[in-house]
This record gives sequence, structure tokens and C-alpha cells, in this order.
Amino acid sequence: MKIALVVGARPNFMKVGPVYFELKKHSRYSPLLIHTGQHYDKNLSEIFFEQLGFPKPDIYLGVGSGTHGVQTAKIMIAFEQFLLQEKPDLVLVAGDVNSTIACAIDAVKLHIPVAHLEAGLRSYDRRMPEEINRIETDCISSMLLTPSQDADENLIREGISKDKIFLVGNAMIDSLIQFEKKAEYSKTMEDLGLTKHSYALVTLHRPSNVDDKENLEIILDAFAEIADKLPLIFPMHPRTRKQLSIFGLEEKVNSITNLKLIEPIGYLDFIKLEKYAKLVLTDSGGIQEETTVFKVPCLTLRANTERPITIELGTNQLVELNKYSIFQKVNEILEGKCKTGSIPPLWDGHTAERIVQVMDNFNYSFS
Ligand code: UD1
Ligand code: UDP
Repeated sequence: MKIALVVGARPNFMKVGPVYFELKKHSRYSPLLIHTGQHYDKNLSEIFFEQLGFPKPDIYLGVGSGTHGVQTAKIMIAFEQFLLQEKPDLVLVAGDVNSTIACAIDAVKLHIPVAHLEAGLRSYDRRMPEEINRIETDCISSMLLTPSQDADENLIREGISKDKIFLVGNAMIDSLIQFEKKAEYSKTMEDLGLTKHSYALVTLHRPSNVDDKENLEIILDAFAEIADKLPLIFPMHPRTRKQLSIFGLEEKVNSITNLKLIEPIGYLDFIKLEKYAKLVLTDSGGIQEETTVFKVPCLTLRANTERPITIELGTNQLVELNKYSIFQKVNEILEGKCKTGSIPPLWDGHTAERIVQVMDNFNYSFS
């Protein structure tokens, strides 16, 4: 069985890696790795190939950045050629990025079944580009690999047949569990002059936060207040760096003492910083999940989340985009008012094994 696995943007690598390596263990499968090139900076792409132990991709489509239409179209044009040449039996796409939907559309139109890893998540906010990608990908996929029961319920509510839904758990957490020990050797805390549980880790890249000047300023004002209480470490996504420059906010961010801006960092350094943070401030999807597993308090700077289980069971809380609300939530955590939470079922490091079992029993004829 030829299985084409698609990666493109940073969070795809941690999700697809465990499935790729599990398939490699079984001679009945030939996994092919396709990198669309949606992310291309060394620290958003190559560093993860090195750290997660991937070989060079079988094909690199090199599409780069662009508007949604341009980027999605470029991926579709390039990936279709690959499919026509290689004719895989199944295409696996992950998450909710433009590479996910573009490759899924190509495959189904060539009657190649699609497996969607991390199916069924919904923020119910259609202003998020990711929500459109999720809904569309789920709608055309034949194997919906879900991380939690709420995802199954969302799919059933949308009329998707139960036969297509497989509750397998969270593949990103397979990577976290696999690399947690190795990450202990990271020297990034020492290099940044940090000690355990004495700093906050920050990431931001959602268009709703960083493409809107007013919202970005609210967040920076909140950071300035928080930085008086504890140091903030901020590995900055290139989208956010670009927007700070467009809005002329670089000086404002640089003037916040105790806020350390760094380049995006590799996975091993990042998960070490995440594990030992006093708290995390983020708008990332995957980081809401990882902090739940590490039992680190997470404040999500968004009005909604497609990962409600991290709130119900985990350590995540949504925070209103308002300087005082953000500051108040941070204070509560510093005063010890935070839940330790529990880890959702099947987030146990064995999701990729369950996915391969689903693939073993799958009917590969397209319908
Ligand atoms: C994308 C995903 C988002 C995901 C995030 C993970 C979509 C619609 N968005 O957002 O769901 O959470 O990745 O990090 O697929 N850029 C660089 N170097 C790179 C990549 C991007 O400088 O290697 C800059 C470019 O200016 C680009 C901008 O970042 O225009 C945005 O990149 P893009 O891939 O469009 O979206 P992300 O914000 O990265
Ligand atoms: N991450 C990383 N370095 C960073 C920031 C994040 O390795 O500087 C990892 C993080 O541990 C998680 C993933 O990137 O595994 C999350 O990706 P991102 O926040 O870009 O995307 P999202 O999950 O929001 O789609």
C-alpha cells in the first residue's frame, strides 16, 4: 500500500511524524512524504525534519507564501502532478492548514481516498480560515481520524456516516511523549537565563490577533503589565513579526523590559520551555493540547477554541481580549488559582499504532 503523507506547516510535522514512522515498521506499507513548502524558513520547517528524524521528503513542492487563493491553488497544481505520477492508495492530510484542504481536494477528484488526521474539531467560528479548511476536509475524507469524543459528535451532527469516523487519539501527543526525555537535554533555559517555573512562554500568530492593529496593541499592553511580574519569552512567528513592522509597533514591543523576543525555536527547545513555564499565553491550537498534557496553565487569547476538551479536562482557559482580563487571569495563576486538570483519553503516545490498525482494516476502493 502506497500511503502519501502530506506536511506543509509547522504543526503538521509533529502530527504526521508518528504515523510515518509507524508505517515504516510494516513492510506492507510504502509511506511517501510530501512537503508542500507552505512553511519554508529553517526554523519553521527544516529544523523539525532534523529533530523529529524525518528523511528528506520524497517530494518538495516549494509553494511558499501567498494569499489563501494563491497558496491553495499552487499546492493543488503541484500536488495533482505528484498524484498522477505516483498513484498512491491513500492520501493522509493533517490538521487545518491550507496544505490540508488543497491536497485533500486533489486526491478525491482523482478518486484517491483521503484520511484526515485530527478530524472533527470545530471552533464554530467561520471567520477563522482553519475552520473552513476543517469543515471542507472532513466533508470529502473517507477516513476521519479523531482526537476526542467531542470531534466524533461534531461529525455526526454534520451528517457524516459513523463508518468513516475512527476515534484514535492525538498523534501530536505521540510526538510530545516520544521527545519529552530528549528535550530535557536542551540548554535553552540556561541560554536564556531562565529557571524552572519562573517565566511565561508566549506564542501568537492567529490573524484575528496579529493582523488587527487594535487587538495586537491590546495584547502588547497586557504583556507590558505582566512583564512587571515575571519574564516573558516570546518566540515570534514570522507572520507576527511582519505585522508588527507593518503596524509600526516594533518600538512598542522592544520597549517592554522583561519581554524577550526570539526567533521561532526548534521542537526540543520549545517543549522544554513549555514544560517548565509558570504559564503559557498563546493562540496556537497545538500548544493548548501540549500544555494540557504537561499540566501547565494555558491562557488562550481567543474567543473560542476547536479544542474544548483542553478546557473541560485540561489546564486551558479562554481569555477575553482585554488588558485587564488577561492581567487578572495571569495574577490568578500566580496566586495558585489554577487547575491541574487531567489528560484526555487516548492521548497516550499510541495514536499512530491505532491509525495503522485502522489502515489495515480500511476498504481502499473509492466511494
Ligand atoms: C499557518 C496556518 C495556521 C497554522 C500556522 C502554524 C493556514 C491558513 N494557516 O498560518 O492554521 O496555525 O500556519 O504556524 O494554513 N512566513 C515566513 N516564513 C515561512 C512561512 C511564513 O516568513 O516559512 C510568513 C510570510 O510572510 C507569510 C506569513 O508568514 O505570508 C503567513 O504564512 P502562512 O503559511 O500563510 O500562514 P501562517 O500564519 O503561518
Ligand atoms: N512550536 C515549536 N517552536 C516554536 C513554537 C511552536 O516547536 O517556536 C511547536 C509546538 O510545540 C507545537 C507546534 O509547534 O508542537 C504548534 O504549532 P503552531 O502553534 O505554529 O500551529 P497551530 O498548532 O496553532 O496550528
